[in-house]
Amino acid sequence: MTSNNPTAGYVSSTERFQPRITPTPDRLKGKIALVTGSGRGIGKAIALRFAREGADIIVIDRHPGPAEQAAEEIRQVGSRAQAFQTDVTDREAIEQTLHAALEEFSVVDILVNNAGIIVFGSLMECRTEDWDKMLAVDLTGAFYCTQIVGKQMIRQRRGGRMIHIGSTASLLPAPEQGAYCVAKAGLRMLSKTAAMELVRYNITSNLLCPEGAVTDINRDLLSDPAVMSKLEEAIPVGRLARVEEIAAAAAFLASDEAAYITGAELVHDGGATVSALWWR
Ligand SMILES: NC(=O)c1ccc[n+]([C@@H]2O[C@H](COP(=O)([O-])OP(=O)(O)OC[C@H]3O[C@@H](n4cnc5c(N)ncnc54)[C@H](O)[C@@H]3O)[C@@H](O)[C@H]2O)c1
Repeated sequence: MTSNNPTAGYVSSTERFQPRITPTPDRLKGKIALVTGSGRGIGKAIALRFAREGADIIVIDRHPGPAEQAAEEIRQVGSRAQAFQTDVTDREAIEQTLHAALEEFSVVDILVNNAGIIVFGSLMECRTEDWDKMLAVDLTGAFYCTQIVGKQMIRQRRGGRMIHIGSTASLLPAPEQGAYCVAKAGLRMLSKTAAMELVRYNITSNLLCPEGAVTDINRDLLSDPAVMSKLEEAIPVGRLARVEEIAAAAAFLASDEAAYITGAELVHDGGATVSALWWR
């Protein structure tokens, strides 16, 4: 019997792709990185990549179990790590977390504003509570961390790196992602404004814009072969990214090699935005 499903038997090229990605040893040696939302997904991949390049990691997540697990994996690669159950929408909690982390690590050199959520849906149908929630995590939480950690970096007088995990939704509107696009576009301007204010302290601030990688944020949606194949077809490179590839880009932005880059976007999208007119 033949199937009517045109995507039956579809083998995702994202799944098939096995990247050969090698961390640069010692590139981040002696650095302390605070990564929000690093209990899983892209944030965890970034934390592990930084650790493999020699950094020690302050793991922040609102879920304590995954945060502890990530910290344990980081320790196994030979770096120091401490996990904190912290909600980035709680300003006081971030201040307390930084205070506690400094007792162990003394300084913080790198901030990755990664914690994020998405509630799919159009702007016209977006409920006020979903709007508030997305803006609170994806934008206000990043603002709190930028301000609190930024002031600490200024006091330390040893420069710093800020990497904000935006999205191609920071640059282009996307259907069914109304409030998310607005929050991520706001994050883009937060990054640029911080870059302008902090350049005199030798602190850079850049936005990293992934198009997509399979994580818990979108796993349900992308488990539908029809959705996945459509997306892969729409991305010129022909697949989504692996979280390790996004982490590699973050590690570059965190390194001394990126000292001259600030207020910029690193668009990590397999060519999706450059070809926006034909696929969106
Ligand atoms: N996966 C993608 O395709 C994709 C594409 C573009 C951008 N992004 C962005 O990358 C970032 C990471 O997403 P992901 O795909 O790894 O998702 P994920 O859901 O796997 O991970 C997000 C992490 O953030 C944590 N988190 C959520 N709200 C928090 C809060 N209030 N306080 C502290 N921690 C919180 C979660 O517990 C989780 O560990 C997000 O900012 C997301 O918008 C993801």
